[in-house]
Amino acid sequence: MNPRKQLVRLRVNGQEHQVAIAPNRLLLDVLREELGLTGTKAGCDDGSCGACSILVDGVPVQCCMMLAIACQDQEITTIEALAQNGEMHPLQKAFCDFGAQQCGFCTPGLILTAKALLDQNLTPTRQEISQTIAGNLCRCTGYTKILDAIEKAAEMLRGQGQQKMMGG
Ligand code: FES
Ligand code: FES
Repeated sequence: MNPRKQLVRLRVNGQEHQVAIAPNRLLLDVLREELGLTGTKAGCDDGSCGACSILVDGVPVQCCMMLAIACQDQEITTIEALAQNGEMHPLQKAFCDFGAQQCGFCTPGLILTAKALLDQNLTPTRQEISQTIAGNLCRCTGYTKILDAIEKAAEMLRGQGQQKMMGG
């Protein structure tokens, strides 16, 4: 028998939601099925592929392994939040420009994992990038283009930061 539903508050991409869900619902399923945020992918469902990676309070987590109810009042970020005013995030642009996505199934999780790194460090070494994305499996690209794209995005973000400092 399903546990009784209860109202859970979730803050996703800056918006408050109240969802009536059973306390054992996974955050991945709530995002996709209750909130329609299907950019977060369901791969292995056992924490081993990284396709479902999102950010909770800025930290990458695998939401197939988290209960939605445990994330109340935390800031949840999914891939849908990255483009702003119709403009792709530099990571999204670089992934497109470098051909770092083929089937694209791993891409949302990879981009969010990389974003968490670049939010802390805009000059990561290739090895640091590689270590950061080690839990995000890609069956298509061989990773070289992904690493190239993340390095390029870091460069673009550094350029944006310099422009802002110069008042541009
Ligand atoms: S679907 Fe969550 S780690 Fe694979
Ligand atoms: S692009 Fe297909 S799994 Fe990564």
